[in-house]
Amino acid sequence: MSLSVATERAFLATVMHTPVCGQLEVIPEALTVVGPDGVIKAIHRRESPLAEREAQRFAAANNLVTFGADQYLLPGLVDMHVHAPQWPQLGKALDLPLEEWLQAYTFPLEARYADTTYAQSVYESLVGGLLANGTTTAVYYATLHLPATQILADICMRRSQRAVIGRVAMDDAQQCPPYYRDPSPRVAEAETRAFIGYVRSMPGNQGGLIKPAITPRFIPSCSDELLRRLGALARETGCHVQTHCSESDWEHGYVLARCGKTDTAALDGFGLLSRRTILAHGNFVGDDDIALIRARRAGIAHCPLSNVYFSDAILPLQKLMQHGVNVGLGSDIAAGASPSILENARHAVIASRLLESGVNAEEERLRRRRPDSRIDALTAFWLATAGGGVALDLPIGVFKEGYQFDAMLVDARSRAGNLRLDPYERPAEILQKIVYHGGRANIREVWVANRRVHSFGP
Ligand code: GUN
Ligand code: FE
Repeated sequence: MSLSVATERAFLATVMHTPVCGQLEVIPEALTVVGPDGVIKAIHRRESPLAEREAQRFAAANNLVTFGADQYLLPGLVDMHVHAPQWPQLGKALDLPLEEWLQAYTFPLEARYADTTYAQSVYESLVGGLLANGTTTAVYYATLHLPATQILADICMRRSQRAVIGRVAMDDAQQCPPYYRDPSPRVAEAETRAFIGYVRSMPGNQGGLIKPAITPRFIPSCSDELLRRLGALARETGCHVQTHCSESDWEHGYVLARCGKTDTAALDGFGLLSRRTILAHGNFVGDDDIALIRARRAGIAHCPLSNVYFSDAILPLQKLMQHGVNVGLGSDIAAGASPSILENARHAVIASRLLESGVNAEEERLRRRRPDSRIDALTAFWLATAGGGVALDLPIGVFKEGYQFDAMLVDARSRAGNLRLDPYERPAEILQKIVYHGGRANIREVWVANRRVHSFGP
């Protein structure tokens, strides 16, 4: 699909978003004005005297995009944790614990990306697939191959998907197989540096659509020396950092045994915990970890679907949010079997409800439950949009002057979708239905920084 050329444009459509967690704002027939740089310049309400005049001005220049009844302009979705090379594995290989899954399925698959032709075809399909699901920003792990990781950055750039991308670093001889590991901490650091330089000087990337991330796979895959080097590189470059943190019983225990402290404390000691850090999972973080993550203002990528298969527990999401930790959602493709952040949003609600009620019916009710754990659909939507933006420290996820116009048009009339609206429904009920029933079939148009990056049929 060809990208539309970015020009100043206005969108006349009912806007729905959650600028504040738990609060839905609906602006009926809003006129959203967007600059050629992709930044929102103004949002005129229907009743504003300027709205009509501005709409006419944009219409006369053929730059007015109008949507109708049962169509809603929502912020694009933010996926804070995707393993790009695992796309071919989506929906299978979910039968082993994490540490065995990595060795049996995942490392052999990731090693294939030494082949750049394979990387090109998989990454093309992945980026197109995520855009079609409304994911306007993705935080990607690639593999340890520099050329294939550059290809992923090129594709995101060409197709205008906002992305934070990391060349994976992993050198530990005990945990990484000989066919898929960095030969030394020095090489891993040098290639990470090379990737950062590549992204920062990509043609067309002056606005920072694509950002590099320092990506130690997780502590078990990395030597102390590599983690120290990457911590110093993070300080030097100010780049994002992504890694896994306290994901499963095994992983949490492994780090405790090796480092004598939790993942969070160890990462902090290596200089890897900052405002730009994204910790995938964090299921087993304790009170001290929560305080540290909060103090460093790092973010957690909550991956509710993946957690079902690999984590052994449910994230205490409500507790983290109450403690002021930045949280967003991650698909964790392919440990999570869905490419849809809406799907992950509903599973975040479901997981929180299971945590609150408890799951073992043979346990007495008061023993099995964990009160005050639930989140609702509105909060899940906030996590999928604005929450992700805050956690990534990017001006996305909300329709607001100065923020990026990353958006999706949800069309409730799509016959292929499951979404059915009733004329008597209130906006808050419509948003609930979008979270519970919305999906690819309803996502008619997708925009990143004022470029249309996906559309289907009339
Ligand atoms: N921990 C280290 N690598 C991985 C991975 O690829 N997926 C998940 N879910 N956890 C990991
Ligand atoms: Fe992961």
